[in-house]
Amino acid sequence: MIVKNTILVTGATGNVGRQVVSQLIAEHTCRVRALTRNPAAAGLPGDVDVCQGDLADPATLETALEGADAVFLMWPFHNTGPASAVVEAIKRHAHRVVFLSSGAVQAGFAPDQQPHPVGRSHAHVEQLIEQSGLTWSYLRPSTFAANTLWWADQIRAGDMVRAAYGAAPMALLHEADIAAVAVRALTEGGHERAVHDLTGPEVLTQAEQVRTIGEVLGRPIRWQELPREEARRLLLADDDFPDSFVDPLLDGYAGMLNAPRPTITSTVETVTGTPARTYREWVSDHAADFR
Ligand SMILES: NC(=O)c1ccc[n+]([C@@H]2O[C@H](COP(=O)([O-])OP(=O)(O)OC[C@H]3O[C@@H](n4cnc5c(N)ncnc54)[C@H](OP(=O)(O)O)[C@@H]3O)[C@@H](O)[C@H]2O)c1
Repeated sequence: MIVKNTILVTGATGNVGRQVVSQLIAEHTCRVRALTRNPAAAGLPGDVDVCQGDLADPATLETALEGADAVFLMWPFHNTGPASAVVEAIKRHAHRVVFLSSGAVQAGFAPDQQPHPVGRSHAHVEQLIEQSGLTWSYLRPSTFAANTLWWADQIRAGDMVRAAYGAAPMALLHEADIAAVAVRALTEGGHERAVHDLTGPEVLTQAEQVRTIGEVLGRPIRWQELPREEARRLLLADDDFPDSFVDPLLDGYAGMLNAPRPTITSTVETVTGTPARTYREWVSDHAADFR
């Protein structure tokens, strides 16, 4: 009898985790367990073992971790919070962790010295994992293409996106590519202590991203530049957008204007054998969300 490994996917209802779950199932090589705070609303496939648990309350993770060999860990908080207890719980059960970190983590800076707040919390979690003795791989993705879903309401309602820093350049990543690298790191050898710096295959400014959405939808959509304070006010009024993330986001965009253009990496293709998907492909995959 073949004994399959069990892999626990945290953030399993999110952009990346949902893709990790479906790609692992498609591979048929392991048993897939998914963590969510609300199994009834998770909408995960029937052949997934859905477990209730909250990363903010590490004691609730024990059942989900029972018998798990490897964990895909995402960190939904903008601080380190219970990370130490979460990593200890993983270490008690599993031997391998693949952590969805962030491209905001900059090499050569201690966690407390990281220039970006998102980089700070993720660097802290990386450090805890490293100290735990777990076998680890880190994914440090650039900006997610899925962030542009923030514009979906404006695009459904008209022909314009009003926001700040339209000239900010980004190498947007399709969540399916991040997940494909995670699946390789969870199921293959050779990723131990690997830091996978992931980007999409091209650099587009925010204004160019909006134009691409219009081209895929078949109608012109344009960018209207807002002053930072106006964009900030709109984001703070948006109930779907966490207030604590508004300033870090806008600071990040402002920093991109003055920084060197993002460097493209070939990591997705090197690890998976398939080039990273373009932003146009991502918009085609999500066109229904903008219609
Ligand atoms: N967006 C970007 O451009 C970008 C770039 C680099 C790195 N990142 C990092 O990527 C991660 C976000 O990944 P994503 O976009 O795939 O996630 P997402 O779509 O934002 O989904 C959030 C996920 O987190 C889970 N979650 C939230 N609070 C939780 C809690 N207390 N306990 C357990 N699960 C919890 C949710 O699960 P339930 O609601 O089902 O419980 C959901 O599955 C963050 O760490 C972010 O810093 C993002």
